[in-house]
Amino acid sequence: MRLATLNAFLVLSGALARADASAGICPSSPLQVVNQICVNPEYVRVTSQKSPGDAITLESSWKGPEHCVNDTCIFFNERVGDGIVILTTERNAAIASNFPSTDRPKENVLPFHVAEVPGKGIGIVADRKIPKGETILIRTPTMMVQTAPHVGLELGTRDLLYDLAVQKLPSKGHELFMGQMGKDVYDKIETNCFQLYIDGANESGSHLGCYPEISRFNHDCRPNVNYRINNMTHTTVAARDIAPGEELSISYIELMLPREERRSRLRRWGFECACPHCSVSDAQAAESDARLRTIEELEGALENFNETVVAADTGARVADLYETEGLHAYLGRAYTRAALNFALFGEAERAREYARAAVAALERESGSDSADVRAMRVLAEDPRKHWTWGKRRKGKPGKGQ
Ligand SMILES: *[C@@H]1O[C@H](CO)[C@@H](O)[C@H](O)[C@H]1NC(C)=O
Ligand SMILES: *[C@@H]1O[C@H](CO)[C@@H](O)[C@H](O)[C@H]1NC(C)=O
Ligand SMILES: *[C@@H]1O[C@H](CO)[C@@H](O)[C@H](O)[C@H]1NC(C)=O
Ligand SMILES: *[C@@H]1O[C@H](CO)[C@@H](O)[C@H](O)[C@H]1NC(C)=O
Repeated sequence: MRLATLNAFLVLSGALARADASAGICPSSPLQVVNQICVNPEYVRVTSQKSPGDAITLESSWKGPEHCVNDTCIFFNERVGDGIVILTTERNAAIASNFPSTDRPKENVLPFHVAEVPGKGIGIVADRKIPKGETILIRTPTMMVQTAPHVGLELGTRDLLYDLAVQKLPSKGHELFMGQMGKDVYDKIETNCFQLYIDGANESGSHLGCYPEISRFNHDCRPNVNYRINNMTHTTVAARDIAPGEELSISYIELMLPREERRSRLRRWGFECACPHCSVSDAQAAESDARLRTIEELEGALENFNETVVAADTGARVADLYETEGLHAYLGRAYTRAALNFALFGEAERAREYARAAVAALERESGSDSADVRAMRVLAEDPRKHWTWGKRRKGKPGKGQ
């Protein structure tokens, strides 16, 4: 699964068996048909019992819980996106069902088509120029599963639940989900889905969201598309101008890594990195790796206020290196550091210039309402009023924080 490292924290006993449960037949006692699947009745929790403090309830257009095993149940709604089915706890489903609805733009014509890309199989290719900052897709998941049961449920149980879950999808959503790579539902989730948190960044809030249209975007180490997930909505935005005929790409891994490390991480995804940035000559790769090391060193020095290294334009130098490296997807953080550093050194005009650039880049990366964007708007407005102002000006020694 994408950007997710998981620990299998539960190894569960075989409480459930594949059987013709719908016919009411289970292979052996003590297994019984409960909620239409074969399960040891000891393990079935009556999920409609709510704890008194639990104020959130499932939004009324949603259906479920169905087919509960322990705390994991199926919830679904045919009218959200192309249909959505969720496997999670009742509390998580209630939270997810109450997320503010994200209006899906009227996409009469999408700016791309699905095509065979030489050496990569299926990919996404731009039909027209897509300008930097244009929102390409806004999607709710077709299927979302809580991570804990995904890794912890006994395999037979899990596969039965997954098969029952996809049957809840309306035909469009079903077709999209089943059209993804992977030999069965579990494998499709492993291969294509994104980790996200719906209720705080802890284990119970961790889920895997599947967006079948996004899973067709191929990997590139210098991607031209940013993505973000807010609540459970996945948004893709052009990170730079994209020419007609160009392939649209996202990154499956952290980008600030030397070529060998990127290749080795991508092998875990089952492919050898063949993106343009992985395919440069050894000499060019060495230059790129050296730039990444310089970025890391200078960012460390900026963070620690290292007097011997950092001057007013150190942040701007780092931002130049990001641009030279083609790290369009990460410019927001580079421009932010440059703006803050100019403010620390009391250079108002340059602080304002980089703060404005940071606002534009961060809007592409994290949405127009994120905390980072708001912070840079404040700095762009009046650097002199910002808390960083002049803290490292000559004759005024840095005071750390
Ligand atoms: C349900 O939970 C119990 C107790 O944690 C566990 O032993 C059992 O294996 C679980 N059931 C399934 C089907 O995983
Ligand atoms: C996410 O959901 C919470 C709670 O439902 C809501 O307050 C918040 O505005 C949502 N965030 C976005 C970016 O939609
Ligand atoms: C996870 O976070 C939620 C909300 O903050 C909280 O209610 C829940 O108890 C937490 N769960 C764990 C396992 O920490
Ligand atoms: C500051 O940078 C110099 C040169 O790279 C280095 O030798 C020194 O250890 C750094 N000081 C701190 C406090 O990190």
